Amino acid sequence: MENAKRYLVTSALPYANGLKHVGHLAGAYIPADIYARYLRAQKRDVVFVCGSDEHGTAIPIQAAKEGTTPRAIIDKYHEAMKQDFEDLGMSFDIYHRTSEPIHHETAQEFFTYLNDRGELEIKETEQYYDEEAKTFLADRYIKGTCPNCGSDRAFGDQCENCGRTLSPDELINPVSTLSGKTPVKKKTSHWYLPLGEHEAFLKEWILKEHKDDWRANVVGQCKGWIEGGLQSRAVTRDLDWGIKVPVKDAEGKVLYVWFDAPIGYISATKQWALDNKKDWKPYWYDKETKLVHFIGKDNIVFHCIIFPVMLKLHGNILPANVPANEFLNLEGDKMSTSRNWKLDMRDYINDFVKKENGGGQCVDMLRYYLTQIAPETKDSEFMWKGFQDAVNSELVSIFGNFVNRTWVLMHKLCNGKVPLFHNDIIDDTDKELITEIANARTRIENLLEEYSFREALFEVIDLSRKGNQYMQKKQPWIVAKTLTENPDNQKLIDNCMHLCLQLSANLAILINPFLPNTAKTMLHMMKVVDKMLDWENAGSLKLLSVGYSLREPQLLFRKIEDEEIKTQVEKLKNGLIKTNTKMEEQPQGKPMIQFDDFAKLELKAGTVIACEKVEKADKLLKLEVDLGTEKRTIVSGIAQHYTPEEMIGKQVIVVTNLAPRKMRGIESQGMILTAEDIDGKLQLLKPENVVSPGSNVS
Ligand code: MF3
Ligand code: ZN
Repeated sequence: MENAKRYLVTSALPYANGLKHVGHLAGAYIPADIYARYLRAQKRDVVFVCGSDEHGTAIPIQAAKEGTTPRAIIDKYHEAMKQDFEDLGMSFDIYHRTSEPIHHETAQEFFTYLNDRGELEIKETEQYYDEEAKTFLADRYIKGTCPNCGSDRAFGDQCENCGRTLSPDELINPVSTLSGKTPVKKKTSHWYLPLGEHEAFLKEWILKEHKDDWRANVVGQCKGWIEGGLQSRAVTRDLDWGIKVPVKDAEGKVLYVWFDAPIGYISATKQWALDNKKDWKPYWYDKETKLVHFIGKDNIVFHCIIFPVMLKLHGNILPANVPANEFLNLEGDKMSTSRNWKLDMRDYINDFVKKENGGGQCVDMLRYYLTQIAPETKDSEFMWKGFQDAVNSELVSIFGNFVNRTWVLMHKLCNGKVPLFHNDIIDDTDKELITEIANARTRIENLLEEYSFREALFEVIDLSRKGNQYMQKKQPWIVAKTLTENPDNQKLIDNCMHLCLQLSANLAILINPFLPNTAKTMLHMMKVVDKMLDWENAGSLKLLSVGYSLREPQLLFRKIEDEEIKTQVEKLKNGLIKTNTKMEEQPQGKPMIQFDDFAKLELKAGTVIACEKVEKADKLLKLEVDLGTEKRTIVSGIAQHYTPEEMIGKQVIVVTNLAPRKMRGIESQGMILTAEDIDGKLQLLKPENVVSPGSNVS
């Protein structure tokens, strides 16, 4: 793989409308930070930018909630987020904000450039207007039913339940969130980015050029977008909070937040360059720059389709990769701010990092766990028990234990100094370890270069595991008992401790991008300077010189106690806000039945072999289910939750001895089982692994 001349790494600019949770941290910040730290250790030219996204309707909405001004909101949350990121070790070269004049100018220049060249179209359309509030309604101010998944809490720009991007016109039963009234249509004109004109470019660039080096989930989402037909996207809004549209007679109009926010990466780079007396231009114009956007999956379309089209039209470079992460769930449920089912970065900082036995090691413990469970290819789960296990049985028992044993034994058996390595008595066990050290670097490097952070981290821990195995084989503490009889055996001890020390130094280098505080503590124990952590030193067996005396060991990681975990889980459960009364509405439970009652049911697993919509019934699907010895037609009320295409091939659980019923003229010969989530969404029940059609269920 060839190195780029310079790198520009970005993390999604978080909205300054509230504190961010660990799901955000795992998605767009920790991976970017690992990558940036790794590049810096490689001495590559890298700038890592982030900042607060301070426009869009999210800000005035939050201001209304808190009874204050948008300005007060962005000031408050910008500072808070900046602090949290700092407390968790994010090494941004700049944490900027989109309310800065330099950003307003940059975004306006960008707009003007495209507009002057005729790349935008002006269209007059009818938009929703709230007659009571006397204002056009931004997409976020309109709520309704999602045409895709049927959730009744979709916004005019996006459904947070299924992630689909929407336009207000697609919403079923729209209502204004300002007045609660049904809005009316009124004429207004706006500037649009005609994405359809760039379809050929996007197809070529994403679906051909990047089909193999971008993550499958990213390419997949883009493919869906492109093949679904690219609509023109409005890049201005009727709103009074945001960047003024730099055109005469555009009063009351601002740039759409998703037009200005990504340009925030550019203005942040400009500000960084000003602060550091550097030139920002090559980072955005020179083809030899590698631009990498770290984001969560809900931001894919903006970073892979809309912003690249803007960049191309403006003459800038395009992202080399957009390693988007899927979502992180928490204790078995989706993270959600409105339901308060989340772990804010701030909460972790207060409960662990700022506690007496906290500090850098607690920062690293979270960084470790979030990387180990990073949702790189599919959604993953933050479990407090999982956090405890990761810390106690990996960081403490493997990595920490190896380093600690090495230091204790070196002080006990080698006078606290790096012992000599006696080449004449080198054996196969030594050689094996030496090869492992040499190979680990390349492996980890390759994984990092392809954004596989969790695997890369696994390799680092695995190397320390090999250190433990090596020591276990060599047992220097046993050899020490033979010294009076056989003083020459000191050589065996020396070799073992020498290699373990060199391995420790290597581990410090390799763990540094992931757990910088741990690397720092190790540097202190080794009494060496930061420079030792340069990536080029990895693989070397001469990092610590013979005879050099080292400090006493320090505890790298403390254990997480059962009590701490219990407290956190309770706190989470007690804080849960049920935004939906569905749960309470349900009757207290049905009367007790006997086993015989249950045994009357005949349940079988089947496979859907055909499926179609039922005409004039928007809730019903007609399924053809293979039950092994027979096929049955079943009508089911799942049309708002599953498309016919999705259903085909799925296994379902069927009540097969239910008396047939006619629905819309079709005889339904059974019923399939579903679970209804708190938000009303239905999920099919199905066997964990595929079973033969007709299998009994009990
Ligand atoms: N504020 C957006 C969000 O939280 C992300 C903006 S990323 C940028 O979803 F590219 F626009 F900066
Ligand atoms: Zn939806």
